[in-house]
Amino acid sequence: MKAVSRNWVASVHVALSLIGLPYAAGTSGVCRKNAISRSLFSSKSVYMSPAAHVKARCPVYPGSDTRRFPVPDDKVDWDTDWPQYSPVNYTAPTVLKKPVWADPEIGPFSPQFNSLDGSVDRRSHEGSYRLQNGKPLNPHGRTGLEGQGLLGRWGPNHAADPIVTRWKRVSTGQRVHHTNSQLPVLQFVSIKRLDCGEWAIPGGMVDPGERISQTLQREFSEEALNSLQASPSEREKIQKRITELFNSAGLQVYKGYVDDPRNTDNAWMETVAVNFHDESGNSVSELPLQAGDDAGQVSWIDVDSSLALYANHLHFLETVAKERNAHW
Ligand SMILES: *[C@@H]1O[C@H](CO)[C@@H](O)[C@H](O)[C@H]1NC(C)=O
Repeated sequence: MKAVSRNWVASVHVALSLIGLPYAAGTSGVCRKNAISRSLFSSKSVYMSPAAHVKARCPVYPGSDTRRFPVPDDKVDWDTDWPQYSPVNYTAPTVLKKPVWADPEIGPFSPQFNSLDGSVDRRSHEGSYRLQNGKPLNPHGRTGLEGQGLLGRWGPNHAADPIVTRWKRVSTGQRVHHTNSQLPVLQFVSIKRLDCGEWAIPGGMVDPGERISQTLQREFSEEALNSLQASPSEREKIQKRITELFNSAGLQVYKGYVDDPRNTDNAWMETVAVNFHDESGNSVSELPLQAGDDAGQVSWIDVDSSLALYANHLHFLETVAKERNAHW
């Protein structure tokens, strides 16, 4: 491994190929300042609380002028009786056009919920979910909006977030320790979202029939590797290293419901976030990611609590930093 020269892809530079994440395909919904729900992710028990979701009740549904029926905190739980509840019915025009990634209207279409339905996994990471009039009910409660919204699937919409890390090092190879915490600094592969300029983990949706481990590697390869202008032989080398890293035991950072602004009463995001760490620094650490053009970037970014990052992702990184005894 070490025999491969450090500048094996030195000539490579980032040429941006990220066309922005369409609402329906990105893991992280729309860009929002990360303050709102950071506290939601501070403990596991809060995650499990049916009243936890906040972004899933954002007043205006993303990509539309549709306003949700307002749901106060004490009415989120389905078990709280609320006869006045009258959610808005909204399915985005992009979803109504019946693209391959989207389910049609429930009625003539009645998928196998809570099970592996052909190649589409309709099981939730959070256990069995309820149905009402043939439609799945959001396991975290009311959102003020029924239908699919921007989401392709009735019920859970599965995503995967690969968090690829290395130790920050000086050119001579020693690890960099933070002056305040005295702890070594981690760096992670991050993409700059085109829609709002926020940094994010390069995640994406699980394709039908795909294992989550495959999604993690595919999304990372697509976003990191396709952004590089590399010769076929360089590309092969990079792909081999990525495959090796993703075949190693990853650290599962989170698995479950995502409080996402696209969620509805009948469709919601779930994800699995896994950390793949290049401890020795001779694998994907050498990916020469750097600033691309103005349109967007793929970069190694220092892991730090002050990062302006999409909220769920900040929590994932905090977990990684603490688990690896790194600076936060
Ligand atoms: C919701 O709206 C869709 C079209 O957007 C329509 O096909 C469906 O019947 C409506 N559902 C209800 C419960 O009104």
